[in-house]
Amino acid sequence: MAGLSPRRAMFPAKPPPGPASEPPQVETRRLRLRALRLTDSARVRRLAGDRAIATNTLLIPHPYEEGMAEKWILAQPERYRKGREVTFAIVPRAGRLLVGVIGLRLTKKHSRGELGYWIGKPYWNRGYATEAAEAVLRYGFQTLGLHRICAFHFGRNPASGRVLQKLGMTYEGTERQHILKWGTFEDLAGYGILRAEFEAREGRYTGARVSSGSGTEAADSVSTFRSSARREKLKKAASNMAASTANSKP
Ligand SMILES: CC(C)(COP(=O)(O)OP(=O)(O)OC[C@H]1O[C@@H](n2cnc3c(N)ncnc32)[C@H](O)[C@@H]1OP(=O)(O)O)[C@@H](O)C(=O)NCCC(=O)NCCS
Repeated sequence: MAGLSPRRAMFPAKPPPGPASEPPQVETRRLRLRALRLTDSARVRRLAGDRAIATNTLLIPHPYEEGMAEKWILAQPERYRKGREVTFAIVPRAGRLLVGVIGLRLTKKHSRGELGYWIGKPYWNRGYATEAAEAVLRYGFQTLGLHRICAFHFGRNPASGRVLQKLGMTYEGTERQHILKWGTFEDLAGYGILRAEFEAREGRYTGARVSSGSGTEAADSVSTFRSSARREKLKKAASNMAASTANSKP
């Protein structure tokens, strides 16, 4: 569980070559999404250390102790290289300070990503989560070639549900009391969007760019998503054809 635009032509069909340990920079109208840096640690600790963030997320610790942010940030390059996770700092283009974090946990086998995000409380309700998440959906589908992106939120966190609705994701149901969080069983609401659905919405988006520079290896490591998805499609088409030929026999 966790939150674009421009046209397809702005995204390279193949990621540009560059250092492999971090994702490329992505820009939206107001935001810059970039790899986390150690210098973000204090901001991460301060913003994510707010109980309001931890209570609505699965993995953010509370209290957020000294050293935790550094450890987490230092773990990111390897997770990216292995194609397990892509995580971005969210920074307003007009400033330099991180206001939130967003990312995708990747499941290669199923060509799937799970979107997760948080925005520091002082920055809520400015549309940042939605704007950043649109860019990440685009990155996931177009650069990584994912087939599906899903996201989950606690039933008592309607703001996150609203973000997912604004992204055009489909509500797929609630798993009742699925998570034991701080001693309470919490409902988990699930949303999903398929690449075809995202592409169908594309005309309405306005604005994100993936810059060149880095991000190749993880994108490469998941680029097999594309070819295996294509293979599956062809296989399905072949079997449909065989079935319809069989059905059309007298
Ligand atoms: C959820 C979260 C990321 C939203 O970030 P944000 O930048 O404020 O999101 P946006 O501004 O893009 O959109 C928020 C939407 O929720 C709506 N909203 C806010 N509080 C709400 C509430 N209590 N009930 C219903 N909708 C609510 C806003 O009005 C807005 O919708 P609108 O644009 O239609 O008016 C942020 O609140 C957060 O980080 N929460 C804690 C961590 C978290 O929940 N992470 C997600 C885990 S799944």
